[in-house]
Amino acid sequence: MFTIDADSDPDQTFPQSVASGGPTPDGVILWTRIAPEVFDPAEPLGVQVAHDEAMTDLVYEGAVTDADQIRAHDYTVKIDLAGHLDAAESYYYRFIYRGVASRRGRCRTLPDSDATPDSIRFAVLACQNYLNGYFPAFHHVAEEDVDFLVHVGDFIYESDNGQFKGFGSYDYAGREKSLPSGHDRVWSLADYRYLYRTYRSDRFLQEALESHTLIAGWDDHEMVNDVYWDRRTNAPAGDHPRGDDPAFMTELIADAMHAWWEYMPARVEYDPNGDALQERFRLWRTFEFGDLVTLALTDERLFRDPPREAIPTPDNVGPHREPPGRTMLGDEQREWLVETLTESETRWTVWADEVLTVPFRIGSGPFSLYPVQGGWDGYTRERQRITEAVAAADVDNFVTLTGDMHSYVAAYQQASYPGRVTGGEGVAQGDRIGVEFMTPAITSLNVAEALHLTRGWRKRLTEPLLSWLVPLMNPHIEFFDGHSWGYSVVEFTGDACTYVGYAVDKTTNEPTADRSVVAAYRVPSGVVDLIDVTDEYA
Ligand SMILES: [Fe+2]
Repeated sequence: MFTIDADSDPDQTFPQSVASGGPTPDGVILWTRIAPEVFDPAEPLGVQVAHDEAMTDLVYEGAVTDADQIRAHDYTVKIDLAGHLDAAESYYYRFIYRGVASRRGRCRTLPDSDATPDSIRFAVLACQNYLNGYFPAFHHVAEEDVDFLVHVGDFIYESDNGQFKGFGSYDYAGREKSLPSGHDRVWSLADYRYLYRTYRSDRFLQEALESHTLIAGWDDHEMVNDVYWDRRTNAPAGDHPRGDDPAFMTELIADAMHAWWEYMPARVEYDPNGDALQERFRLWRTFEFGDLVTLALTDERLFRDPPREAIPTPDNVGPHREPPGRTMLGDEQREWLVETLTESETRWTVWADEVLTVPFRIGSGPFSLYPVQGGWDGYTRERQRITEAVAAADVDNFVTLTGDMHSYVAAYQQASYPGRVTGGEGVAQGDRIGVEFMTPAITSLNVAEALHLTRGWRKRLTEPLLSWLVPLMNPHIEFFDGHSWGYSVVEFTGDACTYVGYAVDKTTNEPTADRSVVAAYRVPSGVVDLIDVTDEYA
């Protein structure tokens, strides 16, 4: 149906390559973008899906001809294959435009709901500041034998200069960028599109998205830093020069959603013409992997109340200190989440929770601080409602997958966190109800970099020190590392859930960048017990 010039360069026609996402048991969404310079409204865009790498055993062939739609969406194209594919299968695909074939992608469908998969493996990803390092971690992700990518947010950062870097950050040649608006913070739809185009031009990120099917969430930086919903103005607000201008912020967040929707192959409900911003977009959704895993993915930005104004000390942190009614999820999403977690019938019940679930204390006794107020430490009433519901329903094998903090964490989740957090002694005395595994940042500023401790003797001294201190101050945290960057692989089987946190050298833009294992933990099915298995993987 399509003729292909074998000598043509795919990057000239498809500068952001290809991607897949939004898996179901009978389909995925395929994504590409046509270079505007080669776009011809009279030419159809072809797509082929095959069982084999050579693209001879075709299972689907189609064409997109709606030139107005393609132009209106920054030349991005999504093709939904729902109904065309078989469950739990891998396929190869490519796009063809004016005789040029794109690079070949590989995609995967979900297992059927009545299937019994032996295992499901995710690469869990977060926080990829393009200006703060190179992306060889994505090259390693591309080569991982995983079923899906789960991205828990900060796919882009909304600045073109060093605003989300720190004291100990280095410069990375070739990463300098300039937003079309001329501002140093994102200001318009054109700016967001520019950021996605730039990030998606990275060859290692492309490789990861070509190799695996994406399950995408978002966090704040896809919109603006620390974005929240101001109920007084009924508009978003956050860390932006115009962050307190409700009309501007409403428009800006609408632009952020629109660009996200154009550039991410995700199966979400989106109505660009809807009246209320909060009703236009529904990020939260469930993925089921046969009888093995239920994955609930939440939106923790569009509905969240403002951060608390008080400095978080033991005397003002905790459900009894918080004004009633504070929320991160909003009522409707919270009810959906609690229902999804407590009614799950799969062996593992997993919450892709963008931000740190468990408390994080620095200090001791009355000299404690809870610095991660953007995580659930700033929303302790709602956290307790969720954890108590999970405990009351006796949910077995409960796991949260988190990001945002640019650290590696393995921790116990508890029904509640009494003691200091609620006025008594200690910090973590509730019943254990599950575990939390945090994936590190691909490149974004971590605590060691913020304090200029990433290299030489400072790293050798402070890395073990922090990894010792944090669990000491937080008895529910089994492992912490804030000195590396990379990704994690989380595998679920009938017997166990295993987390392996990898560090990848972000200072080299080469596929040979060093990779090492930071930590590996295993939780056996049926017991809440974190077993250190780092030696098995090191
Ligand atoms: Fe981040």
